[in-house]
Amino acid sequence: MSPADGSPRASAHAAGRPGPRPVVRTPSGAPVATTSARRVVVLVSGTGTNLAALLAAHDDPAYGARVVGVVADKAGIGGLAIARDAGVATAVVAPADFADRSRWDAALAEAIAVFRPDLVVSAGFMRILGAAVLDRFPARILNTHPALLPAFPGAHGVRDALAYGVRVSGCTLHVIDAGTDTGPIVAQAAVEVEPQDDESSLHARIKVVERRLLVDWVGRIARDGMVVDGRAVRVG
Ligand code: GRF
Repeated sequence: MSPADGSPRASAHAAGRPGPRPVVRTPSGAPVATTSARRVVVLVSGTGTNLAALLAAHDDPAYGARVVGVVADKAGIGGLAIARDAGVATAVVAPADFADRSRWDAALAEAIAVFRPDLVVSAGFMRILGAAVLDRFPARILNTHPALLPAFPGAHGVRDALAYGVRVSGCTLHVIDAGTDTGPIVAQAAVEVEPQDDESSLHARIKVVERRLLVDWVGRIARDGMVVDGRAVRVG
């Protein structure tokens, strides 16, 4: 039986495994490069500089990932403007528009699913994701956090690290699980704390490193795949 008859190879493609890269021809007959880049949805709540870094990388076909949608928890934020300027579709799912947290969570899962993502990246999304989102995209949601986890989880990682008096902090890219910044760690990078640092100066330096880490690892995961086994994360 040939693959076209429904053999296992044909079903594997039907199940979404990448097949051969399609060649598209324009009416003039010239071939056009098409992309088999992994589809990425980015969740944002604020300025969106991490999103901007991903958008700066994703036009290169060799990068392997493409931001296909941006979902925010409120309107009017910088991250949405960055997405729109880049021609990326956006959605806003605001908790205030829902009767309770579980309805918001279900709507958020739907809004993300519309974009058929291979990977979801929470980049400055200041909400805990609920079961509807986590169950819909198991081991496929990453979060970037501005501290070296497991130290200083939560919404004030930079402030808490400074208050503790650490000499080195940094950032962590991890897979999201049901806890607050507790999921398996993909990658980390260190940033030295300077004696004159306040929250804003330290966070600004961490964000420079954080953007590089995020862009680097999202690309690697898109190109080489990621396996999460307990607390171990293997890329490639
Ligand atoms: C990042 O440092 C992220 O880790 C934290 O909030 C910041 C978001 O920055 N949770 P931006 O919105 O991507 O500029």
